[in-house]
Amino acid sequence: MSAHIMVFDSGIGGTTVLEHIQKRIPNAQYSYFMDNALLPYGAQTQQTIISRLCSLIYFIEQNALVVDLIVIACNTASTSALSEVRKITSIPIVGVVPAIKPAAQVSRTKHIGLLATPATVASPYTHTLIKEHASNTEVSLYSSVELVALAEQFFFTQQLNTHKLHKALMHLGIHSDIDVLVLGCTHFPILSDAIQAYFNNTVQLLDSGAAIASRVSYLLDQHNLKSKWAGEKKPLHYYATADILSNKQVIKDVTLIDLSQYVKS
Ligand code: DGL
Repeated sequence: MSAHIMVFDSGIGGTTVLEHIQKRIPNAQYSYFMDNALLPYGAQTQQTIISRLCSLIYFIEQNALVVDLIVIACNTASTSALSEVRKITSIPIVGVVPAIKPAAQVSRTKHIGLLATPATVASPYTHTLIKEHASNTEVSLYSSVELVALAEQFFFTQQLNTHKLHKALMHLGIHSDIDVLVLGCTHFPILSDAIQAYFNNTVQLLDSGAAIASRVSYLLDQHNLKSKWAGEKKPLHYYATADILSNKQVIKDVTLIDLSQYVKS
């Protein structure tokens, strides 16, 4: 039996993290779970996000899925709900949060940008992260829900609306001093070539994918699950909470129960 790693996101953004983990640990059993019925998370309240994440744990337990580790490959979900979710399960959880610390370390201008969803930018967790890891650096915050929709569209159709992308980026008015831009939403690396081109390669884009893969590898080791890596590469299982209009993958549609009445505010 292989270690079973479930990667979760509101949509397909988490696949950018999954790719890094799969490269590092090719023979584990992977499931990809997207709560696309509630996409975009970036426009939801913290309470709604906490409730959905608790529903995910409930789903795993109700369906007796033997999951060794969950990666919440969503900055919005992690910055909103990580501590609450860890309280209700013994499954090790790896959260994905904006790469503020490495960005502050590599910035020469000491002015970095965080490009994330509105919920991530508003989250107290994000502000603590900045205070703790970028105290000597100016951090400008930019949020967009439009880029999430563009990334989804690009992933499924391979068509990128460059005009819309440029308009959205222009509208953000990213400061010209910024030399490192943190992609604090797992959807955004899908657009990184186009974003890089928009900035004429003058800005370094940074995401958390590689660091998360290292963390997962370390935790599998800690939990003595490394021996479970052996064997053949396993097929990836997909779960989604809404239909996907794509012939790219066959998605098993599942229902997450609304647990909001059980979650204390
Ligand atoms: N992929 C999610 C993140 O990393 C956000 C997408 C959404 O708004 O649902 O924050």
